[in-house]
Amino acid sequence: MNAIVSIDSPADAKRLAEANTLLTPRFYRTDCAAIDAIDLAPVAAEFDALLAEFALDVNREHFERPADFSREIRTLDPELRREFLDFLISSVTAEFSGCVLYSDIKRQARNPRIRDLMGYMARDEARHAGFINQALKDFGLGVDLGQLRREKRYTFFRPKFIYYATYLSEKIGYARYISIFRQLERRPELRFHPIFKWFERWCNDEFRHGESFALLMRAQPRLLRGHNRLWIKFFLLAVFATMYVRDHARPALHAALGLDPTEYDRAVLRITSEISRQVFPLVLDLDRPAFRRGLERLARWSAASAAAAARGGLGGALVRIGLGAAMAATFVRLYCLRSLPNEPPADVRCAPAW
Ligand SMILES: [Fe+2]
Ligand SMILES: [Fe+2]
Repeated sequence: MNAIVSIDSPADAKRLAEANTLLTPRFYRTDCAAIDAIDLAPVAAEFDALLAEFALDVNREHFERPADFSREIRTLDPELRREFLDFLISSVTAEFSGCVLYSDIKRQARNPRIRDLMGYMARDEARHAGFINQALKDFGLGVDLGQLRREKRYTFFRPKFIYYATYLSEKIGYARYISIFRQLERRPELRFHPIFKWFERWCNDEFRHGESFALLMRAQPRLLRGHNRLWIKFFLLAVFATMYVRDHARPALHAALGLDPTEYDRAVLRITSEISRQVFPLVLDLDRPAFRRGLERLARWSAASAAAAARGGLGGALVRIGLGAAMAATFVRLYCLRSLPNEPPADVRCAPAW
């Protein structure tokens, strides 16, 4: 049993995109003036090199949809169809969340470098969201992104939380897209939808977005030391645990791609953790058996909670409260596990070597 209910109409897609749970992508607002005021002098050369890369716009034509796109889509069994649609709706919401946030910061910023950076990233995310939405339209389930922008609830995050969370989601997005692309390179017969062919060049956009947040953090070294280490550890765990739980709620999708969710997530977390060494003063000890067991428990209890929600009634509600408390306690125990110290290299930028 998993958390996904039926997705049969545009209203279902809209409801899923607008949902605000621990596992669904959110829309953010932040203190744009504070981001605008960052002194970029310590990373000026790297920042300008990155802006020059964005200006090249190497993926300008990559997201043009070919005429024969929809002809490649196979008929999917109901469980796979449901999980794949859930994946697409969650992805379009996450991509569009980036677009909304970056364009919001651009609109309010005066620093030309910040304006340019946010404009480039909003451009990329709008393309990504639009491309996924086209795929959803093939199923008659396109999401009205303008309406989503107006109607979805916004969560306020202080700038430093935006840096930690967005840096990690961009880098984990890279790791996920490249891992799926590489898997389907090895097993092309499992490519049940053409969108996966776009993931290789797509993931480079996400990698670059992550680089810009690495630079924004390196320009403000206080964000990477002292008590902020506790926040970094929190965001590492929150982002990793969310992905683990969400992926384990999509067994049919992973089976169709020939991936074991546990192995796949382990690989994605490892890639993301290794990349994050470019900025963060610590990494989580991913190999620790207690860490793995904790993630497994979170996934199992989340599935049980979804099953209880589907059953409904007072019994289901009580079970969910109990499981929620157990999951919170597991999260705290995971947080208390020792992390490993890391000394970020002098060179700020890193290369997509995975
Ligand atoms: Fe994106
Ligand atoms: Fe991105």
